[in-house]
Amino acid sequence: MNATLPGPAANTEAIRLALQSWPDVEAYLKGCKGIIIPLGSTEQHGPTGAIGTDALTAEAVALELGRRSGVLVTPAQAYGMAEHHLGFAGTMSLQPATLMAVMHDLVLSLATHGFERIFVVNGHGGNMATTKAAFAQAYGTAASRGLPVASKLRCRLSNWFMAGPVMRQARELYGDREGQHATPSEIAVTLHLHDSLITKQRPLPEPAPCGAIHGPADFRRRYPDGRMGSDPYLATPEHGAELLDTAVSALREDLETFLSAA
Ligand code: NI
Repeated sequence: MNATLPGPAANTEAIRLALQSWPDVEAYLKGCKGIIIPLGSTEQHGPTGAIGTDALTAEAVALELGRRSGVLVTPAQAYGMAEHHLGFAGTMSLQPATLMAVMHDLVLSLATHGFERIFVVNGHGGNMATTKAAFAQAYGTAASRGLPVASKLRCRLSNWFMAGPVMRQARELYGDREGQHATPSEIAVTLHLHDSLITKQRPLPEPAPCGAIHGPADFRRRYPDGRMGSDPYLATPEHGAELLDTAVSALREDLETFLSAA
């Protein structure tokens, strides 16, 4: 395992797997065995937030992380485990077993080609338990299939919104108005990425307080407009640019450690 990152790329196009040829990928693997998978969700984000928030933010963080590090970035897995958001129009969810199978199969595909370090940039809390379970299953499958990389295969789940510096910045910007879902920090990143979303911003009534998460009907009853304790109206595109930069810096350290560790 090489201990260093490939080095900054000229632009994000240079590190998108979707824009490489197979000989490009073979050549890349001679120098680096790491790759980044953005993982999001397609789910309601309150009455003013975009359905694609978790996928858009994870992909943006992943692409900028790839640009700065030179590590390849796969297409985003835009569907996640969002069963509890199905009470709101537009949400599209994978059941936990489905997401586990998807992440398992994606990891195994990459491992088959010789990728040894799979770094998942995640934008949705509901994906965490399932993705970790998928990793555990992938290690077993890699070994049982006798893949040459089996003993070296490592997967890491890196939740950009939970990186220490991001949480500190969100706390400084929004205090307890950050909440736990449709948060101003994640909405700010989407405003930075897409000008059209700014027109949706408007003052909202007091949100339901944070609490338990069970099924979709219970979620809608507890959190009638989809927010959990958050005030996304506090979000600005400028905050979003800063939060994105903070997230990428934090995850770059995480990625470097991950790629160089035994
Ligand atoms: Ni979200």
